[in-house]
Amino acid sequence: EKGNYRHFMEKEIHDQPEGCQRTIAAYVDTLTDQTTVQGVDFNAIDRIQIVACGTSWIAGMIGRYLIEQLADLPVDVEIASEFRYRSPALRPNALAIAMSQSGETADTLAAFRHCIEAGMKSAAIVNATESTIAREADVVWPIHCGPEIGVASTKAFTAQVSVMIALAIAAAKARGRIDEAEEKRLVHVLLEAPRLIAEAIGLEDALKEIAAEIAKAKDVLYLGRGPMSALALEGALKLKEISYIHAEGYAAGELKHGPIALVDEATPVIILAPYDSWFEKSASNMSEVMARGGQVVFITDPEGAKHAPAGAKVVVTAPASDPLISALVMSAPIQLLAYHVAVVKGADVDQPRNLAKSVTVE
Ligand code: M6R
Repeated sequence: EKGNYRHFMEKEIHDQPEGCQRTIAAYVDTLTDQTTVQGVDFNAIDRIQIVACGTSWIAGMIGRYLIEQLADLPVDVEIASEFRYRSPALRPNALAIAMSQSGETADTLAAFRHCIEAGMKSAAIVNATESTIAREADVVWPIHCGPEIGVASTKAFTAQVSVMIALAIAAAKARGRIDEAEEKRLVHVLLEAPRLIAEAIGLEDALKEIAAEIAKAKDVLYLGRGPMSALALEGALKLKEISYIHAEGYAAGELKHGPIALVDEATPVIILAPYDSWFEKSASNMSEVMARGGQVVFITDPEGAKHAPAGAKVVVTAPASDPLISALVMSAPIQLLAYHVAVVKGADVDQPRNLAKSVTVE
């Protein structure tokens, strides 16, 4: 039930601290601060192939950054509808992961079967544990965020990312890339995520005000680097799905290779830039945008707010977080922004036009 919320989406955004906490608790031991991911020998595989669609594909891309960085294990993430119809060079020693909230997405299932037929070990990251994808997998890694009703995925996304983070730590430990002390530190960081997500949700009033402005735009650009480049895609997808405003997400480094041509006074540019190793680069993209009259909404953290070039239309200061979990913490602001833009526009938030919750036909 929706409780006191106007829409399921709003409720599900607010459910995220709890949904992530339950998901994280399934993959780490909260007493020892160690990972408890079961079912895969990370030394017996030489790469990971993730197949997914939509928001689930974006969760996979965030996973890729973390797994490659921490565990030194190559990860491919591909849109299932492309993967299934090309001739990918599959190797049996890879681990196939299907990322799917519903576990019924037709393209993801077909791509996953392709991997299984090639002899790969298979794992399903699903919300629906009775689904077709779950049944066909060797290993099921459920997300534990509870049923998601809103067509726009929110709490399933952050729960999927939570599993990806736990996997990255587990794979790094198993492959000897981090020692036990580092594993404990990282698990401890992950366990902090629900509290920080709740703090980020606390920015709702400020985001509501920004949403009133964004609702007037025809086009919106989202930029970020590293995991934030994936989150930029998610911000744009969320906005277009429920508010019908045209939005594009880009890796900020691509700005000069095309999208900067779109920048003018009427196009809000939302830059996702926590104070991490990519910050200086994102900040200079921000200056480039402002130099062309772009109206920047800079979503950052306290340190980033201190170091940001002056001139942003608005700075949103999310809580400080370790880069391991910044994609989780920065999710709430982009979801709330999209949600409130849709509300301002009077759109049917939970059942956006032309969209289905579960896409069981290709
Ligand atoms: O059930 P799945 O996770 O396989 O669904 C994949 C996409 O259809 C889904 O994430 C879609 O992009 C959402 N509507 C995004 O909000």
